[in-house]
Amino acid sequence: MTYLFKKAAVAMAASCALLLAACGGGQEESGAGSEDKKVLNVGTEATFAPFEFMDKGEVSGFDVDLLNAAAEEAGYEVDIQNTGWDAMLAGLQSGQLDIGMSGITITDERKETYDFSVPYFESVTMIVYKEGTNIAAAEDLKGKKVGVQNGTTGQFAAESIIGQNNSSISKYETAALMFQALQSGDVEAVVTDIAVALEYEKSNPDAGVKTITDDQFAPEYYGIAFPKGSEYKPEFDEALNTLYENGTYAEIYKKWFEEEPDMETLKQAAQ
Ligand code: ARG
Repeated sequence: MTYLFKKAAVAMAASCALLLAACGGGQEESGAGSEDKKVLNVGTEATFAPFEFMDKGEVSGFDVDLLNAAAEEAGYEVDIQNTGWDAMLAGLQSGQLDIGMSGITITDERKETYDFSVPYFESVTMIVYKEGTNIAAAEDLKGKKVGVQNGTTGQFAAESIIGQNNSSISKYETAALMFQALQSGDVEAVVTDIAVALEYEKSNPDAGVKTITDDQFAPEYYGIAFPKGSEYKPEFDEALNTLYENGTYAEIYKKWFEEEPDMETLKQAAQ
């Protein structure tokens, strides 16, 4: 055997072992008739790391892990598609989508149009700005060129300071386009969710950005979104509560955020 061939053989043996392990796991689960598990259609906007982002052609992230665990618990399979934000919301309204999982903040206004699960993540608005821009508090967004993702709570927060339909606010279809605008200098600051802002700062150490939040931004909570009246909402609520109780939620949380979740705050938010 040549050296290279040997190496290839070893690698093949290793991946076969992995494959077998994977198959074994799958079979165990499918024993109880997983073949006829109903597949739910899920939409997302997958430029929102660490919640959802594209990784080797697959949607990956905290939301994906959590939704998969909840679906498994509730007895469903999920097909998560990167539909984009607006199409996701439209798909929920038309009933073409069963679920929206996209770091979606539960708001009173949205509750008129969609149903939401119990809260699964606490967030707050954060401003990301180019170093050297004079921003020490939310009020300093006034007079600056500000980027937001269209139709998100970041937009609403920016508008609450600068005013609605102010031409200094540029709205982008995805979170990625919003960050690109910051990078290229089209805007001086962007307004988004804390975990996404911190993730961007961390994974772009050369971008020269700084982050701040402000007391005037109220805590918000993410929920899984459903069409109004969805039969799946109660089932996913139950599933989430099970994942909160049995430690699965904490495990997923630690995987992505490298710290323990604050379960008390989540429970209180559910009241
Ligand atoms: N939490 C914010 C909202 O609900 C932003 C969500 C954006 N999500 C995304 N996947 N781009 O408005």
